[in-house]
Amino acid sequence: MKIIITGGGGFLGSRLCAQLLDRGTLTGPSGQNESIREIVLFDAFFARPVDDPRVRQIAADIGERDAVFAAVGPDAAAIFHLASMVSGECEERFDDALRVNLEGGRNVFEAARAVAGKPRVVFASSIATYGGEAMVEENHDRTKLTPRTTYGMTKAICELLVNDHSRKGHFDGRSARLPTVIIRPGKPNAAASSWASGMFREPLNGIDCPLPVRRTQCHPMTGYRTVIDSLIALHEVPEARLGDDRGYVLPAHRVTPEAAAAVLREVARERGLRLGEIVDAFDARIQGIVDNWPVAVDGSRAVALGLPQPPPLQRIVEEYVKDYL
Ligand SMILES: NC(=O)c1ccc[n+]([C@@H]2O[C@H](COP(=O)([O-])OP(=O)(O)OC[C@H]3O[C@@H](n4cnc5c(N)ncnc54)[C@H](O)[C@@H]3O)[C@@H](O)[C@H]2O)c1
Repeated sequence: MKIIITGGGGFLGSRLCAQLLDRGTLTGPSGQNESIREIVLFDAFFARPVDDPRVRQIAADIGERDAVFAAVGPDAAAIFHLASMVSGECEERFDDALRVNLEGGRNVFEAARAVAGKPRVVFASSIATYGGEAMVEENHDRTKLTPRTTYGMTKAICELLVNDHSRKGHFDGRSARLPTVIIRPGKPNAAASSWASGMFREPLNGIDCPLPVRRTQCHPMTGYRTVIDSLIALHEVPEARLGDDRGYVLPAHRVTPEAAAAVLREVARERGLRLGEIVDAFDARIQGIVDNWPVAVDGSRAVALGLPQPPPLQRIVEEYVKDYL
């Protein structure tokens, strides 16, 4: 079978590709396990080639309809749509956000609709789809999506498109509403949640991390291994088990910078690491965006579907140390 991963050059897309290659099979449109013949990675940018004859990289813009249609072709059996601008960028560049996140999503969904069979489409949404007065203490799949950022708005619209294309039988879609995924390796990015990974990553690298939010700020976080497992598990759920609402918020820990510092101290003690500090560097713009995001989510509907829970926070940190340090 042929699989498309948009955003396949990014953090989660490249890890998803590696895991699918290891796995070797996925459920095809027939409902049977099929071997993975080709994975097409579609991204604006690739840092490096993937050394596997099953992988083809296409460097192009998701806003370009023809490029997306050419990549998906008449024969894609599974599409993981992860290409996206991040939250901070979307807030600064409204028109680009609509072109990339919204028109890009439409291009992917229309290309999926044009496929001869009925491909499964897994869309990476975000808990930034929640916001404002509609939020409750633990936001769940029945909480109204009233995003207070442009990024969250584009994700909420794409979730609705996934539901409606699925209702029409154009493709078999599913959306995973991702909490903030830790620990992103490399450098800080333009996401307003970049501090969530930074406050672990920088101290583990022995350098200080500026913290733009309050130390008591609670934020829903999960580990990247769990997210990749969840995207694959969501793909594998038979369509008959899905209702008319195909959007599932993934379970997450409520993490504060204070809790992160305590876990870091424990990991550093066990491994004899010298930690950098989490240093207060309050930024009213970032705090303002984060104030409009949920502090906790209830992923029980995803768990009931068979999607995994994140392991304890300390294990997430230890996995990062093992994978990246
Ligand atoms: N990482 C998180 O904490 C998190 C949380 C919630 C949701 N998500 C969603 O999960 C998905 C993957 O996230 P990630 O952490 O891997 O992000 P990432 O930034 O590492 O990957 C996104 C990829 O999209 C690509 N992209 C951006 N604009 C593009 C364009 N115009 N054309 C083609 N490609 C383009 C980027 O080059 C990048 O490689 C995204 O949709 C993101 O919104 C991530």
